[in-house]
Amino acid sequence: MTEPKPNLGKRLHVKTYGCQMNVYDSERMVDLLEQDGYSLSHGPEDADLVLINTCHIREKATEKLFSDLGRLRDMKVERQDGEQVLVAVTGCVAQAEGDEILRRAPVADMVIGPQSYHRLPELAARARQRKSGPSAPGDLAADFEPAAKFSALPERREAPGPTAFLTVQEGCDKFCAFCVVPYTRGAEFSRPVAAILAEAERLAERGVREITLLGQNVNAYHGAAPDHPTGAARLADLAYRLAKIKGVERIRYTTSHPNDMTDDLIAAHADLPQLMPYLHLPVQSGSDKILAAMNRRHAASDYVRLVERLRRTRPDLALSGDFIVGFPGETEADFQATLDLIAEVSYASAFSFKYSRRPGTPAATETEQVPEEVKSERLVRLNDLLDAQRAAFNASKLGQTLDVLFERVGRHEGQLIGRTPWLQSVWAEADPSLLGEVRPVAIIDQGPNSLVGRLL
Ligand code: SAH
Ligand code: SF4
Ligand code: F3S
Repeated sequence: MTEPKPNLGKRLHVKTYGCQMNVYDSERMVDLLEQDGYSLSHGPEDADLVLINTCHIREKATEKLFSDLGRLRDMKVERQDGEQVLVAVTGCVAQAEGDEILRRAPVADMVIGPQSYHRLPELAARARQRKSGPSAPGDLAADFEPAAKFSALPERREAPGPTAFLTVQEGCDKFCAFCVVPYTRGAEFSRPVAAILAEAERLAERGVREITLLGQNVNAYHGAAPDHPTGAARLADLAYRLAKIKGVERIRYTTSHPNDMTDDLIAAHADLPQLMPYLHLPVQSGSDKILAAMNRRHAASDYVRLVERLRRTRPDLALSGDFIVGFPGETEADFQATLDLIAEVSYASAFSFKYSRRPGTPAATETEQVPEEVKSERLVRLNDLLDAQRAAFNASKLGQTLDVLFERVGRHEGQLIGRTPWLQSVWAEADPSLLGEVRPVAIIDQGPNSLVGRLL
């Protein structure tokens, strides 16, 4: 606690792309660097260290990094103290293209993959030292050391608000044919139960009421639990333990793979009132041929049956999903099968993407690539259906009284914004003292992006 802080007064700016796990990592890298004496700046203009946490999932994400680095190079030229500003590139592009970044963008002082963040303070110190000598190439840290990464994390200082992300597992062993994650995040790794519970307790003490458990394959979780008969706890077990923590009123988890929806996890949705009735369960496609080519290892009918089981267990469960259109070899009939599956399942919300060719993944070298204009046209049709389902789901809540967790103040005075159990955004006239509280709210109207409520 009394150690000297060598970087006292140094300012840090972080820009985050990609998934919620990157958001979590960014928060934790801030914690690490705060321990080292850094504090957050207003923007890149007054920062001593700029960190870009990158995403590699689709092509465009990588392009954004290089345009950001170009802007930082210009900023360094314009700023009087520009020479001294450190630039760190972290995240999945750092892992996949570390050497290329250092070669193409000398402005990068350090490039650090997602499983090497514990080395950030050390590399930043080293880079700062280099600034006093002749210019030298940046450092690359891209080892897969998830255990070291997580054990280096300091206690969480500030809660981000009434809701928080908590990464419980990382990496993926599934190797879907389109996806870079197994290469950028490495093999499946689960954090020990005790570390997760300690972090959750700390968050709850700091006023967090809703915890979203994160993992690229969160329901593949199997973290060390010495008191468990098998020595490892699965996600359901973890949820039961978290539900016992005072103050934790809502638990969510994302992203789940259909093949890891175990019986105990399905049952937990009936048993645990804290487990929210909303599940992000991507299927990607409704065509068995495409699912096989994607290496998803289940048929469309398996998914539909799974959803039926989930809904029998928890009748108010709503679903969200991810869809890819234009995977290599996708015909109009395959695409129609996806629309049919969506019509059958009915989603409250969903993310849809045009297939993006990722170097190094098996699907990238498939010969039957789908033309861009076909992908675009299918995406429009897919989104029309998903948008209609989303609107219908929201409309179905009109006139009902729902529990809303108030999360932040609204744009207009006297308004708070919160979320329903189904992650719908609701605004209502409410006193700021209700921030962080769950309250019954009558849903009286529907705006384009949110519901309107009246506090009861
Ligand atoms: N682990 C999660 C997904 C992580 S990536 C899962 O298995 O569901 C998030 C989403 O990005 C995926 O569900 C997929 O729909 C999309 N995605 C991944 N790779 C893609 C690619 N090459 N092109 C287009 N979309 C992709
Ligand atoms: Fe990617 Fe598939 Fe793993 Fe999800 S399950 S992270 S889509 S490889
Ligand atoms: Fe992107 Fe890496 Fe997440 S590729 S989606 S930041 S796991």
